[in-house]
Amino acid sequence: MSRSLIVANWKMHFNIHDASLYVHHFNKALNYHRSIEVVLAPSLLTLQPLSLQIDRRKVRLAAQNAYSKDDGPYTGEVSFTMLSGLVDYAIVGHSERRIYFAESLELIRDKVTAAIRNDINPILCIGESKPEKIAGETKRVIHDQLITAVSDLTAEEVKRVNIAYEPIWSISTFGGEHADPTEIQKTIDYIRYQISELYGASTASEVRVLYGGSVDDQDAGGYLALDGCDGALVGAASLDYEKFVSIIDTAQSIRLAKKKD
Ligand code: PGA
Repeated sequence: MSRSLIVANWKMHFNIHDASLYVHHFNKALNYHRSIEVVLAPSLLTLQPLSLQIDRRKVRLAAQNAYSKDDGPYTGEVSFTMLSGLVDYAIVGHSERRIYFAESLELIRDKVTAAIRNDINPILCIGESKPEKIAGETKRVIHDQLITAVSDLTAEEVKRVNIAYEPIWSISTFGGEHADPTEIQKTIDYIRYQISELYGASTASEVRVLYGGSVDDQDAGGYLALDGCDGALVGAASLDYEKFVSIIDTAQSIRLAKKKD
């Protein structure tokens, strides 16, 4: 059983001072659990100072985005090559990037490939919109987003991709509707089935599948307890370090319960 992955996606919140204050409190409150991997995804600007402040044995860093080319005349962009060594993970294909910044399936594929090329583990976000869900298109959307994103990778490389299933309608930004864990279970199973069909059962069993979408300290347990759910991508609730610590502790309790099964 690989370690569960609990990721804080701070989005465009916290300047350098706020981020540093958060980490100061978070470091004190955080209970270290060997089977839980804790990742903070702050703004690009704060990655460097936070890398000096965190204890890397307990907390890892993720970028929220980076560009698919390694270097060149791309004004305003930062490459995975530049982030290499600074972060262990990078969020790729978040729905806010797909929707607000028009990131295409192909661009997201190139970013996933660039992350792997630069030894950074992608946290690939996939998920359907409300109209797609109503139209019964969830599987098709998941299939297209997933298959395109990993299409340039070998089976060995696919094992390094962490897939965050985030139905758009459940993300706080887009309405934050509570998702029924039973429904989420079906999509998690489908994601693993797709990986298994394409890359074999061994790859599918090693890929971590996370859930994200308004996860907070009250409902995290319901999602983390799902079969094959290996962690959570947490947005709004992660801005409160006490709530985030509580989610991490819940993940640990669920791990222990799953081990006993
Ligand atoms: P949320 O964000 O927890 O605020 O819904 C999750 C995400 O967008 O990754």
